[in-house]
Amino acid sequence: MSDRESPHGQWSTSLVFVLAAAGSAVGLGNIWKFPYIAGEYGGGAFVLVYLFCIVMIGIPIMVAEITLGRRGRQSPVNSLRTLAQDEGRSQAWTIIGWMGLLTGFLILSFYSVVGGWSLAYVLYAALGAFSEADASDTAALFEALQESPWTLLAWHTLFMAIVFAIVARGVRRGLERALDFLMPLLFLLLIILVGYGLVSGNMAAAVSFMFRPDVSMLTGEAILVAMGHAFFTLSLGMGAIMVYGAYLPKRSSIGKTTLSIAGIDTLVAMLAGLAIFSIVFSLDISPAEGPGLLFVALPTAFGNMPGGTFFGFVFFALVSVAAVTSGISILEPVVAYAVEKSGWTRPVVAALVSLVIWTIGIGALLSFNLWEGFAPLGFLADVPRLWFLEPLTGLNIFDLLSWTTGQLLLPLGGILIALFAGWKLSQPSLREELPMSEDLFTAWLVAVRVVAPIAVLIVLLNGLGILRFS
Ligand code: TRP
Repeated sequence: MSDRESPHGQWSTSLVFVLAAAGSAVGLGNIWKFPYIAGEYGGGAFVLVYLFCIVMIGIPIMVAEITLGRRGRQSPVNSLRTLAQDEGRSQAWTIIGWMGLLTGFLILSFYSVVGGWSLAYVLYAALGAFSEADASDTAALFEALQESPWTLLAWHTLFMAIVFAIVARGVRRGLERALDFLMPLLFLLLIILVGYGLVSGNMAAAVSFMFRPDVSMLTGEAILVAMGHAFFTLSLGMGAIMVYGAYLPKRSSIGKTTLSIAGIDTLVAMLAGLAIFSIVFSLDISPAEGPGLLFVALPTAFGNMPGGTFFGFVFFALVSVAAVTSGISILEPVVAYAVEKSGWTRPVVAALVSLVIWTIGIGALLSFNLWEGFAPLGFLADVPRLWFLEPLTGLNIFDLLSWTTGQLLLPLGGILIALFAGWKLSQPSLREELPMSEDLFTAWLVAVRVVAPIAVLIVLLNGLGILRFS
């Protein structure tokens, strides 16, 4: 096994790594985005495609990402550089790391804005703002938040400050401690919420909505969104899991930890979906409510249940925690690279990087108010040769950031990671990192060499309208 050591430190145990990676994976993607896109794209069939993508594409690519990280032991850029050197491959593969850095900047800038909403809702809940509210009251509350750039800016700033403070402290002192008890707590709360859905909500409707597939709802776009989300929710494609893998102890099993991480992430998404939809269907709210689903439907429920103020407070606190533990994993690869490159101290680097991300985030938060109708790529709409960029021309900054990262950069990064790990690492290197049974290893190799890259490529091209099947 390679004896390289990470300059940034190492997780104390495999379990800590699983918690950290699960903390990265479980976030706004699971609790906020998954329920609302499942709602928008019709439920069951979408969920089925999503699960299929997790198993066929997500899990093999996660194994590939952790493998590259643990062998390289540095930020994604330098890990790729070192590995390409070791294996006698082209330095061009470091593009994976560079793309990841760019993606990290873009994702965190809009992620922080939504993380800010969940922080705001912790305060609202504590102040009893949902108490006896009906759906129109909570909708008005959410709208008021969206329409105030200064309020959004304050919460976005707070979110970035928290993420910065943790990353500045480093792997062990910053990340490890909090995760140990916050992750189990998040889980407990979700179970309580599902329990509430069972007793007071319409769980039957939720189950049938989420698990009864209506294939007529499956468009090329729905499949692209489901696949993009599989990457997003598992934190794949930009080097976040790779950099966490760089801190993984030598003896830990990459296969087993991957299954635990993907399992936890999927379970949380399903439970959050069931809890939220059972409440949605009991209140006569549309499941296709969009981004406001979590911030409108749930507060209504909390406002009308016994102990709702308390549950609401704890729930949004935990959504915030989930968002923070994801946010740090988006910042970490960028900071790790900048530390390696500049030799400056971690706090200084983390502050500079956070400042840039915070600034891009301002564009994202203005998309909900002052710049609502502003589509930065609108001018491309009239260029005939760029017709394939058409889906982007109508998007505001927030949607553009979310779309280009989720539907484009992450899948693209994922393909490259799979190809590099599958075709460019030598067999002995791979066997060293992945001491699993022959059959499992072969299955994984086929997945990263052929199945995942081709599947992702087809879905990408189809979704972009370059290659149309539907
Ligand atoms: N997976 C997180 C979520 O579902 C978001 C996230 C964290 C992420 N790190 C990432 C997404 C890296 C893409 C890449 O909320």
